[in-house]
Amino acid sequence: MGTVARIFCPRCDDTVDPGAPPVRCARCGGVLEVLVDLSRITGDLADEIRRRPRGLWRWREFFPIAHERSVVSLGEGDTPLVHASRLGAEIGLERLYIKNDTILPTGSLKDRSVTVAVSHAREVKASVVAVSSTGNHAASLAAYAAAAGLAAVVMVPAGTAAAKVIQARAHGARVFAINAPFDRTATFFKQALEAFGWYSCLSTNPWRNEGKKSYAFETWERLDAEVPAWMIHPTAGGLGVSATWKGWRELNALGWARGVPRMVVAQAAAAAPIARAWEAGLPDPIPVTPADTVAESIAVGSPSLGWRALRALRATDGAAVACADHDILGAQALLARLEGIFCEPSAATSLAAAIALTREGRIRPSDLVVCAVTGHGLKQPEAAVARAEPLVTIDPSLSEVERHLQRIL
Ligand SMILES: Cc1ncc(COP(=O)(O)O)c(C=O)c1O
Ligand SMILES: [Zn+2]
Repeated sequence: MGTVARIFCPRCDDTVDPGAPPVRCARCGGVLEVLVDLSRITGDLADEIRRRPRGLWRWREFFPIAHERSVVSLGEGDTPLVHASRLGAEIGLERLYIKNDTILPTGSLKDRSVTVAVSHAREVKASVVAVSSTGNHAASLAAYAAAAGLAAVVMVPAGTAAAKVIQARAHGARVFAINAPFDRTATFFKQALEAFGWYSCLSTNPWRNEGKKSYAFETWERLDAEVPAWMIHPTAGGLGVSATWKGWRELNALGWARGVPRMVVAQAAAAAPIARAWEAGLPDPIPVTPADTVAESIAVGSPSLGWRALRALRATDGAAVACADHDILGAQALLARLEGIFCEPSAATSLAAAIALTREGRIRPSDLVVCAVTGHGLKQPEAAVARAEPLVTIDPSLSEVERHLQRIL
């Protein structure tokens, strides 16, 4: 299992007492980071990891959980890295790969971080775990809390996709739909956290945040240690991009990998505080009030790890793209029709960004590109239904079938 070497503020490099609950840096207000002790890891471990049963906890030495008995797992991790050859041919990329996280246990990327958060909650003997969320995080936390026998409280903005809310309710979480947009919901949730003392699974929890390093580890293994030229992540709070980068840095520190991919933040144009800051050359996100967008899951105006995501972009000579809803829906349809992957609109922003950067000539046709596709289409079926042709309803008659087939073939 992993040992915590240090808890610190990455912005001003202050060390914090590892026994203390996760609070922000006293000096700059930044989100703290856990540094896992890698000094006991040897090259042999890489071979051992390859032989272990599949899943995120194969990499347990990299996660800050001390005891195996604390681990709460639903079999997350090791999602397919699909060589998307039909889609690649369509958009002019020979080596396009899709990291298909739609098939994680609760249907979204959140399981990667929540498995670590709930394991840590168990380790510190918390009894109530809680989060505010655009939906996927709430559903994931509810499921892991159910499996761990912990109570869960989640807050989502009223109007969150019904499928995500019903998931959380099905697992027995106490769900509050707040009459406010996401950023206001999140501010209110922090008040409730302080008042009730729940274990926080927000992205200000440095233990939880380690889980998404697994994107780097799994990609590294599947590509036989080849480093992708680009890794593109649908971005809300900024964790996916910054944690993936951290995972690659750890692989480099161990000498298992040479180099890091260029990281790309993919946001919806309606809520693009990180992409706008990147364009303006600023180190911090520019908070915005999100406009309406099909990319509901990533409609976050004040990303708590925005500074960290921007640092990852600078360090890797990366990019940030603000994608129009029309392009996001186009990317969602391409994934469904050419690769058999049905994702929610937010999850398709990575592909929309890949298409934009390829058109601009920044991504070259032979570059190895990995797009994280982070949530299942059934999470928000409304978006696909709205665009679909009317459903054909007919009598059981062959001539009726023939008449309709002639129209589509
Ligand atoms: C489907 C989906 N993709 C991506 C993200 C972005 O996550 P991050 O906070 O890592 O930027 C979210 C977050 O809610 C999400 O639900
Ligand atoms: Zn600080």
